[in-house]
Amino acid sequence: MIMIIDLIVGARPNFVKIVNLLKLLDADKFFKVRLIHTGQHYANNLSDIFFKQLNIRNPDFNLKSGSGSQSFQTAKIMLNYEKILKKNKSNYTIVVGDVNSTLACSLVAKKFGIKVIHIESGLRSYDISMPEEINRIVTDSITDIFFTTSIEAKKILISEGKNKKNIYFVGNTMIDTLKLNEQKLIKPVFFDNLNLSNIKYLVVTMHRPSNVDNIIIFEKILKNLNSFTKKIKIIFSYHPRISKIIKKLKLKYKNIIFIKSLSYLEFNYLVKKSNGVITDSGGITEETTYFKIPCITMRNSTERPETINIGSNILINNNFKKLSSNVDKIIKNKWKKSFIPNKWDGNSSFRIYKVLKRICI
Ligand code: UD1
Repeated sequence: MIMIIDLIVGARPNFVKIVNLLKLLDADKFFKVRLIHTGQHYANNLSDIFFKQLNIRNPDFNLKSGSGSQSFQTAKIMLNYEKILKKNKSNYTIVVGDVNSTLACSLVAKKFGIKVIHIESGLRSYDISMPEEINRIVTDSITDIFFTTSIEAKKILISEGKNKKNIYFVGNTMIDTLKLNEQKLIKPVFFDNLNLSNIKYLVVTMHRPSNVDNIIIFEKILKNLNSFTKKIKIIFSYHPRISKIIKKLKLKYKNIIFIKSLSYLEFNYLVKKSNGVITDSGGITEETTYFKIPCITMRNSTERPETINIGSNILINNNFKKLSSNVDKIIKNKWKKSFIPNKWDGNSSFRIYKVLKRICI
């Protein structure tokens, strides 16, 4: 019997996490994968370019759900995915990560009696003000099969009462994709113009509501970054959700180099060659851990503690003294020694595939 599997992707980090698994499942005649793009990210530089560069085939469905408030977006994805399941049910629905598409599609699938599989389950920041934390908790509460990136995440799921038998610690599929593409990274066009191969520079990304939606906090961040430019170049790669505010502020903080969101291969080139990263992203802390590049996270919690305990990441909240002293550490090459976590070895998707083959067919 052929198993119909819906593989759900919606936002930039999702695309990166499914590359190898999709290929493995597509190549197996016992699975029929329906790749479903919810349309949460629709801009070329957040979506299409990722499909092209990572060689992801065209989705079978694009739900074209688009942007909106948290509830509007979640509801729209739910309604659109429900239409597909009404016509033709899947046997399993795979969701990844913690974005609104993850939550929306797991809810719809579960109400159709479809088994939900969650890749990157068990992560907890314990900061319920983050939309992603709500998405993680709710998705895991109705998940049937759990794949985790760390042993800690497995322990969290067990402590929440999930059945051990359904939890598989497989490692990190984002690192599968990074390893696969490490030799194919692309030098961004501005790299030579800015002479970046000969000078020290930091890459900054910032898009969390807690950092960018409050103008006072965001300007404090920019003011500090601007002051570092006497010692080190700052390249700020910005997400479309903050383009308007960047347009307004970029002349005020004119020593920072602002660039639009880069493609996957360009961004990781820039990171790999950098002296360090300042971010509020979760996924980037995993990539910098793999590259062993110093990473300063401007949040007060993380759902990925292994990037700190084992990897090259540190957490400083919005403590600007700590920001400045840690930027100095980077400049002086005094960063902590770090390692790559267990099973972040490029084979995580294959482990998932093997489990699916055993339990689904
Ligand atoms: C989403 C995820 C976040 C992830 C991030 C990665 C949720 C709750 N958040 O945040 O966890 O780290 O993706 O990029 O799912 N926009 C565009 N073009 C697009 C998509 C969005 O301009 O293609 C703008 C719109 O103004 C939109 C805003 O970005 O309102 C936010 O987009 P949304 O998908 O809601 O959340 P992200 O901030 O991208």
